[in-house]
Amino acid sequence: MTTANIGVYGLGTMGSALALNMAEHGFDVAVTNRETEWISSFVAEAGELKGRLHPHDKLDDFVAGLKTPRVILFMIPSGKPMDMMIEAVTPLLEPGDTIIDGGNANFHDTRRRSAVLSEQDIHFVGMGVSGGEHGARHGPSMMVGGTAHSWQQLQRILTAIAARFEGASCVDHLGPDGAGHFIKTVHNGIEYADMQIIAEIYGLLRNGAAWSPVEIGQLFAEWDKGPLRSYLVEITGKVLQYHDPATGHPVVDVIKDAAGQKGTGRWTVVEAVRMGQAANVIEAAVGARSWSSEKDTRVAVQNILGGGRTAIDIDAVALADAFMAARLLCHAQGFRILASASDTYDWELDFARIAEIWRAGCIIRSALLDDIAEAFRGDLPQGELILAPAFTAVLSQTLPALRQVVGAAVSGGHAIPALSSALQWYDTMRQGYGTANIIQAQRDFFGHHGFERLGEEGKHHGPWWD
Ligand code: 6PG
Repeated sequence: MTTANIGVYGLGTMGSALALNMAEHGFDVAVTNRETEWISSFVAEAGELKGRLHPHDKLDDFVAGLKTPRVILFMIPSGKPMDMMIEAVTPLLEPGDTIIDGGNANFHDTRRRSAVLSEQDIHFVGMGVSGGEHGARHGPSMMVGGTAHSWQQLQRILTAIAARFEGASCVDHLGPDGAGHFIKTVHNGIEYADMQIIAEIYGLLRNGAAWSPVEIGQLFAEWDKGPLRSYLVEITGKVLQYHDPATGHPVVDVIKDAAGQKGTGRWTVVEAVRMGQAANVIEAAVGARSWSSEKDTRVAVQNILGGGRTAIDIDAVALADAFMAARLLCHAQGFRILASASDTYDWELDFARIAEIWRAGCIIRSALLDDIAEAFRGDLPQGELILAPAFTAVLSQTLPALRQVVGAAVSGGHAIPALSSALQWYDTMRQGYGTANIIQAQRDFFGHHGFERLGEEGKHHGPWWD
């Protein structure tokens, strides 16, 4: 009997696609699934890859069919199911074996699981996988956490199946325990922000300038050929040009304006706040999704308070610049969260490498990420992306347009939570002397909390206490 290089447990969309991708690259893959009836149909439909797929109905046979030290990739819902599977599989494993969780898990769970399993010398890898079904099948971007030992076991397989950017594989071992899942979480936070910025730009053109979906789609297709090139711009350009076969309307007009979310965007915001950060563009995007799902309330509010919006004078060039500025600022916020986490958890993250891995295969892949990778490899004052020489130039060129677009949108009553948050963050950060002196005075006045005087060490109180 062939012993397989890796086992894949969970033959849902992502698990099946990854198993086929591995088989296509010449690896023998043991496969199994909780609902055992899926297994034979999956293998039967695998065509010429069938020979590389080794189906098992029973967990112990599946484990016994793996080369040692074993590597098992779980592609199952995160949370309780993962804990249950760890409990079921661990007694069948030996020291040196590796369990991988390839789902969108909360990195706190990953850290806890790693710590518990390490007591038995079983390695636990939290691996972020991005790119949806197509990515998983033909080349995902993968953010790998866990031990160096696990990476040694996995490197050959993952490097072979990953997306490629100019020949380089979009996968790496980025840090210990929960680092891989944390990086994927922040990837998703940026994904939420970029999607929201795009939705707001669509809204301004549609509701403020009376452009048709097809016209907006064509503009996005145009943008996809320049510095705004990205997967999300490309697919937005495409979806806007589709028509609904049932009604003949633009398909976007028949889709309910209530967006779902599974939690990774929210986790990004929660973890940022926990570490004393405020990723306000990402937060605005998460909040906008939550408000979007309050459809009935919004309809009621519109009926009572009115939903009037006026036409606004915007041009496509200014919008492109505003988009670039907001996109850059939300990425900068994402990398600040990664920097905080790296310090908090001693991960020693390589930000340039993370940006490189995001250049292909993942949902936020874009031309900007190549520039970000380069910026992190160069001179970065204060470690701040917005201070990289290339980006100070971009910001000074695009910020006037962001300010103009936000100003026009606000005057016209158009909701632009992400675009305006980006501008607010920028305007806050460029003030060396802000307004928190007032907060400190208030805190001291009502609570005797004390404040620092400019240029002086130590705690002082205001004359209101004399
Ligand atoms: C990816 C995506 C993916 C995520 C979906 C849906 O990188 O491939 O981030 O992992 O599950 O985008 O996320 P929401 O349901 O939260 O929008």
